[in-house]
Amino acid sequence: MKIHTWEKAFLAVGIIVLIACAGALVYASVVHGIHLPGDSGRINPAQVTTTPPFDQPGVHRREDGSYEVVVIGRAWSFTPQEIHVPAGAEITFTATATDVLHGFNIEGTRLNMMLIPGQISRNRYTFAEPGEHLLICHEYCGLGHHFMYGRVIVHPAGTDVPVVD
Ligand code: CUA
Repeated sequence: MKIHTWEKAFLAVGIIVLIACAGALVYASVVHGIHLPGDSGRINPAQVTTTPPFDQPGVHRREDGSYEVVVIGRAWSFTPQEIHVPAGAEITFTATATDVLHGFNIEGTRLNMMLIPGQISRNRYTFAEPGEHLLICHEYCGLGHHFMYGRVIVHPAGTDVPVVD
């Protein structure tokens, strides 16, 4: 079978683009740690405030120096509203919603989750620099949606941040 030269060229371009896209996916996942948020467990949305770890929302320091931040989203606020963490430490954000679908997006980071009633969302992040970030709900959740935000204050690495435990 004879393949026309131009057709060969187009096929080659197509294959190169495919390989480049696959390579970009692998690069994002391996080098930058970007993954699709997975389902990290189920929870009864009516019993969030009495079910661990959501019975103790806030910042928790683990023995290995990493942190877990437990957040509850509800119309129209986050608990806690203000999150203090140090730079340079691995932080796991564990969150859920009690009522309707909410968003969880920390401005200037790749942290972007959906908070779904009945489902636990989890994502890890390490802040490189101290600073302040907005935590916003970016899923429309009703009349007060635009009031639903919090703040993440990143302290210099090694700072003893206020820990709720
Ligand atoms: Cu919660 Cu929009």
